[in-house]
Amino acid sequence: MSNMDQQNILQQLEQIQQEASAALASASTTEETRAWHSEYLGSKGRLTGILRSLGSLSPQERPLVGKRANEIKLALESALESRQATLELTELETARSKERVDVTLPGRPQTVGKIHPTTRVLREIYAIFGSMGFQIYDSPEVETDEYNFQFLNMPPGHPARDMWDTFYTTDPELLLRTHTSPGQVHAMRQYAPETIRVILPGKCFRYEPVSARSESMFYQVEGLAVGKNITFSDLKGVMTSFAEQLYGPGHAMRFRKSYFPFTEPSVEVDIACVLCNGKGCPICKYTGWLEILGAGMVHPHVLQAGGYDPAEYSGFAFGMGPERIAMLKYGIDDIRYFFSNDVRFLERIG
Ligand code: PHE
Repeated sequence: MSNMDQQNILQQLEQIQQEASAALASASTTEETRAWHSEYLGSKGRLTGILRSLGSLSPQERPLVGKRANEIKLALESALESRQATLELTELETARSKERVDVTLPGRPQTVGKIHPTTRVLREIYAIFGSMGFQIYDSPEVETDEYNFQFLNMPPGHPARDMWDTFYTTDPELLLRTHTSPGQVHAMRQYAPETIRVILPGKCFRYEPVSARSESMFYQVEGLAVGKNITFSDLKGVMTSFAEQLYGPGHAMRFRKSYFPFTEPSVEVDIACVLCNGKGCPICKYTGWLEILGAGMVHPHVLQAGGYDPAEYSGFAFGMGPERIAMLKYGIDDIRYFFSNDVRFLERIG
């Protein structure tokens, strides 16, 4: 390549620089500077084209041209940067002055969520039993036949199993717990021979037709106290204190004899109807009473299954349905609302 070519390329470079500088100065938006970049400095840009052709120069010519081309490239890059910075600033200013906030417009209301009624009742129950020294114990929703029935004094074929319509699984040993009572045995096995005071909240499942009064999935809160010299009067005291804290002092309650295979004796606890206060109304079916929980003294076989010697230890247990308590408390007439996931339900309550 001749000296002429070298001169020629140098001239071209100077020209590109002049043109590019002028074009950059007249770019009035950041968008235009991006177009400018691809025209001069992009992979198919004019300066890049020249830098690529340096290979065809002789080794003597190359350094001078290369040096100049790089100088121009750096100069253009820094010019671009400062031009862009200036333009960005003006663009921001214009945007700001255009999009002025109209403080006289009414604000958009923030929608504040609400706590689900079951959760609210559960929290109340936790607080009440917490104040009496009960801790929360977590226990599984999928259970074995052993825990759900056998340890609770219901061997295979026991007729009392019919009290709980059960969702079985393809594994004959596994089922969805029908009540939280299997948690009693889990807690006992973990703590034996310590004394126990726990509540076990959680979901239960029953293979029953769904109606306004019964769902196939619902919550229960189980309670368990095990120790030496625990008597039926302890159970009565705890239940009375619970009902008074939930429904107000002096709220009438009664204990009715009942049957559960895992408690002996067994009772059901009723409270005076929250609607008619005992006079009789459709909610309490004109009895004046509402059943809120089942309870009793832990059966010796269950204590044994939990690792406690029934000659030395005794205990009481109870189980309640928080949805039912919430229905009475908030006047909800259909249990299906609880899991229907309709936000209007939450808006209506509280
Ligand atoms: N597990 C019983 C039920 O589901 C309730 C209960 C719990 C009864 C503890 C007595 C003791 O009906």
